[in-house]
Amino acid sequence: MPRLFSRLLRSPAVNFTRFQSLPPYPFPRMRALLEGLTPDDTSAALNLSVGEPQHAVPDFVTEILTREQASYNKYPPVQGTDAWQTAVAAWLTRRNNLAPGQVTAAHLVPLAGSREGLFSIGLVAINRQKQGQVPLVLSPNPFYQPYAGAAAAAGAETLYVAGSDATGGMPDYAALPKETLQRTALAFICNPSNPEGALASRAYLKQMLTLAREYDFILVGDECYSEIYHDQPPVGLMDVCGEMAADGSGTPANPFDHAVVFNSLSKRSNLAGLRSGFMAGDPRVVAETIRMRSYGGAPLPLPIQAASAAAWEEEEHVIHNRALYRRKFDLAEQYLGDKFNFQRPGGGFCVWLNVGDGEAACRTLWRKAGIKVLPGAYLARPDAAGHNPGTPYIRLVLVHDDALLEATLEKIANTL
Ligand SMILES: Cc1ncc(COP(=O)(O)O)c(C=O)c1O
Repeated sequence: MPRLFSRLLRSPAVNFTRFQSLPPYPFPRMRALLEGLTPDDTSAALNLSVGEPQHAVPDFVTEILTREQASYNKYPPVQGTDAWQTAVAAWLTRRNNLAPGQVTAAHLVPLAGSREGLFSIGLVAINRQKQGQVPLVLSPNPFYQPYAGAAAAAGAETLYVAGSDATGGMPDYAALPKETLQRTALAFICNPSNPEGALASRAYLKQMLTLAREYDFILVGDECYSEIYHDQPPVGLMDVCGEMAADGSGTPANPFDHAVVFNSLSKRSNLAGLRSGFMAGDPRVVAETIRMRSYGGAPLPLPIQAASAAAWEEEEHVIHNRALYRRKFDLAEQYLGDKFNFQRPGGGFCVWLNVGDGEAACRTLWRKAGIKVLPGAYLARPDAAGHNPGTPYIRLVLVHDDALLEATLEKIANTL
């Protein structure tokens, strides 16, 4: 036996522990659930499990990527080009009713999609201990899975808090015991929420910001679906920061004190594959993130920054997208409106259906019709009493064109 190989065999077992608390991601779990099942009928077969918009990439984006291709030979700046910073600051200012000059380069970090930022915020904003204890991350339940990754990466514990009617379906972090809030280093709010599509009210965001400042934790607003809404634009966390700074209930010297938001072009502009998003907010979190990313981040290539700047400046394609999503929800309402406690969400493009047993429904839809949906349980975690709030649900995403979607929705209504 070669010497190196025999030495390897004798070496101690590799024992990784940091991410062992995380279950497999929802998609491989779903694939495992469906393994060995063959659909009887595939006439309406469609994958409604992955939130990947199927509308066309805007033409101007493709044109800019082609025009700028010579700059692939350059290392891009971690903090973004001037044009990218200007476009994103202007969009945030418009969208959040902020005063000109309130958002500057010091408030912005370009990201290769918001997911990587939602994960790595844990490394920046969670210290090893909070008040001598293991730090805590507050997460909605169900929730976007990278929130759990952020906590695991930082060695923190996560407290999953189900949505409450009292707070419009958002997690009521203000109702948590004082000791819990004192241990909290980071809290996530998903607005509009994935999967339920609930919208956070202005009063709720104000209350959460006040709490974050009082207990010294970073409040994260995941606003990835902010531009896909039914009739009311969701209120942005930065909007509330600006309002509080102006009315004297906030911190005028640092309006975004203890707050950061994440957004991206994936849903707004049908550019999930471009990988382009940002974090914006408290300049102390931004500076530390830029420091981390100068050591280990993957800055956005220059052609992508140029195309992204244009996509943040252009609203017509977003207005068009919203109209297309409204039509899809009209279809969903037509076929599912009186079933499974269907509710038209305030935002996002997910339908969250109470089918009694999400895993069983997922298997039935696949076996009978070749339709893939996610069991709600895979998007949530059991609470202290072992109750998983996602178990009765399935999540469908309305991202396909109307004809495909209509046939599939009809099949779902007839199959379940
Ligand atoms: C709630 C939520 N936040 C963030 C993201 C991340 O999107 P991206 O990394 O494409 O910006 C997603 C993607 O599905 C999401 O559902």
